[in-house]
Parts: sequence; structure tokens; C-alpha cells
Amino acid sequence: MQETLILAIDTSCDDTSASVVRGGRRILTDVVSGQGRIHAVYGGIVPELASRSHVEMITPVVREALEGAGVPVAELSAVAVCHGPGLIGSLIVGCAFAKSFSYACGLPLIGVNHLEGHIWSANLLEEGPPPLPFISLVVSGGHTALYRVDGPCEIFELGKTRDDAAGEAYDKAARLLGLGFPGGPAIDGLAGAGDPKRVKFPRAYMPDSLDFSFSGLKTAVANYVRSNASGHGAGMVVEDVCAGFQSAVVDVLVEKIKRAMAREGVSTVALGGGVAANGGLRHALAALGEATGVNVIIPPKKLCTDNAAMIGAAAHVLLMRAETDGQNVNKNQNLDLNPKAYLPVSYNRSGL
Ligand code: KG4
Ligand code: ZN
Repeated sequence: MQETLILAIDTSCDDTSASVVRGGRRILTDVVSGQGRIHAVYGGIVPELASRSHVEMITPVVREALEGAGVPVAELSAVAVCHGPGLIGSLIVGCAFAKSFSYACGLPLIGVNHLEGHIWSANLLEEGPPPLPFISLVVSGGHTALYRVDGPCEIFELGKTRDDAAGEAYDKAARLLGLGFPGGPAIDGLAGAGDPKRVKFPRAYMPDSLDFSFSGLKTAVANYVRSNASGHGAGMVVEDVCAGFQSAVVDVLVEKIKRAMAREGVSTVALGGGVAANGGLRHALAALGEATGVNVIIPPKKLCTDNAAMIGAAAHVLLMRAETDGQNVNKNQNLDLNPKAYLPVSYNRSGL
């Protein structure tokens, strides 16, 4: 097979994104149109507004990605689109566009799981793809899970959140603190100016488990705010609350990564998902790498938050695998939409 040239699209949540990726590794363009300002006033994503904005933005965003890449459509090898998990109204826009575009241009259409996109974003790093096997922590607004990645389509779930995702906890804590939406960057920014030891929040380590739980932490923040914020914030230093909250989240994520690497005997870990843009987490993992010699792969922040380049990287992996297996990944006629799509290639090993 010639080097692939993939037009990739992601509209799973509140970012309209299109990218052209060469050979599954080289990003020619990665255009992301965020909707932060539309949702900020509501303190969270309003699905109906998200899908309407995708309808407005999908054509200009795809056009910008194609024109910026400077490649004629005739040279594309496939169109890839995220078909779940995500908000149904948002997914429909990207999928409908990708279906029509691929049909009109006679190109194969590849449906990509959003989580698989976050996992394979590690292939887009300048230093090249991570050595196999590696542990992947996908930590975003909708998901928090650990995977063992043995190869293309060999992705095994080791643990996942039993309640809130880490990003969800960030967004809810920020809301309680009146910091707006999205909460992750706001808390991250203030945490640096606070003392992480002054306000102690619980850590759900759960012995012998690689699962996560963040709902207790969220409740602890709510209780703390209720008892300390009366009298115009008297007694509450927001920076310290942010620092205490962030260190609780980061401690748990780092501990679970260490456990997963030890249990699986794997010495490489790669991060993905919006919370992987967090300064505290990036710093703690870099320190872990320095202290223990494990290989820590931390993608640039732009590749952590939602983007279409990661969908292109995952689609390339699927194409390569399909070629090896003699399968046809082109689901041009009836790409399934599945807002709760789970990694189709994984199975749960947490009970082993
Ligand atoms: O991966 P993503 O862009 O979308 C989903 O697939 O969910 O992740 C969005 C999440 C939001 O919850 C946002 O608050 C969080 O990532 N986030 C952060 C940071 N930047 C984004 N959380 C902590 N620190 C950050 N710097
Ligand atoms: Zn995501």
C-alpha cells in the first residue's frame, strides 16, 4: 500500500475538527474550531447548541484543513470520521458530512472510535510512535481508563472510572468554585499559585484495582465550599482548594499508572485526553520518568484535547491492520452511529 493520506473528522463533543494526516504520523493540518464561548454561559456543554454549531462549522473547517494541506482531493486515500462515543447530535453532523464527502469523491470511509483516537495520538509525536507494548491512560471529560496496547487492534482495558471521569470532576469542581467552563484549564491555572497541602481531599486508591472513582472527590469539594465559602469567601483560598483538588486527582492517576505498569510488566506509558494537558499531571509523570527510568510519553497539549489528527492516526492503524488481515474497512454504505461506542477490539482484563 502507498503511504496513506487521510482526511479525518471529529465532531464527537464540542470541537469541530478536521485534519489531513500523511502515513498515520505526519500532521499536514489539524484545524480545531472550539465552542467554549457558546457553552461557557451555561456552565457545561448544551448538546443542541453543540450540534448546531457543528453544522455551521463543518464545511469551513474541512475546507481549511484540505486547503492548508495543499493536497488535491484526488490524492486522498480515505476519509475517517469519529462515530462514537460522543453526543449523538454532534456525531451525526461529522458522520453525515464524511459519508457524503467520501461518496461524492469515491473514497473509502473509515469509522473510528474516539478513545482509539486518543490512544493512537501517541503515534503523531515527532520522536515517532511509542514502542509496543505500552500502557495508555485516556483521561478526558467523558472517560478515564487505562489500556494495555499490544498492537494495532490489540487494545485491552485494564481499568476505568466507576463514576465520574477526571475531566468531569474538574469541570464540576470548577463550577462549585465559580470558575466557569471548561473547568480543567481554570483549576490548572490557579493550582500553581496555591498550597496543595493546605486543603486535604480524599484519594480513591481502591486496593488491587486499576479502576478509578472521582465522585467522592467532587462531593468533598462541594462540602468544603459549603462550609468555608460563607461570608463572601471568608476562610476559603480558591488557589489552595484548586491545588488540593489537583494534587488529589494527579496522585490517583499516577498511582494507577504505576500499578498498571508493574502488573503488566510494561515500561512505557502514553497519555491522551484533555486532562493530559494538565500541568500538574504532566509534571508528576515527567518526574516519575526521571526517578524510575520508565518511558513516559506526553503528547503536546494540542494533541491531548480533542482533535481530528488523532482520528487520522487511528484510521491509519486500522487500514494497516485491515490490509494485513485482508479485510475491507470501508463501511461507506452503512457506517454505524454509536454514541456509546466502546472500543470494539478490547476486552476487560480487570478481573484477571
Ligand atoms: O479530550 P477532551 O478535549 O474531550 C473529551 O473527549 O472529553 O477533554 C475535555 C476535558 C474537559 O473536562 C476539560 O476540563 C479537561 O479535559 N481539561 C483539563 C485541562 N485542559 C482540558 N483538565 C485539567 N487540566 C487541564 N489543563
Ligand atoms: Zn476526547
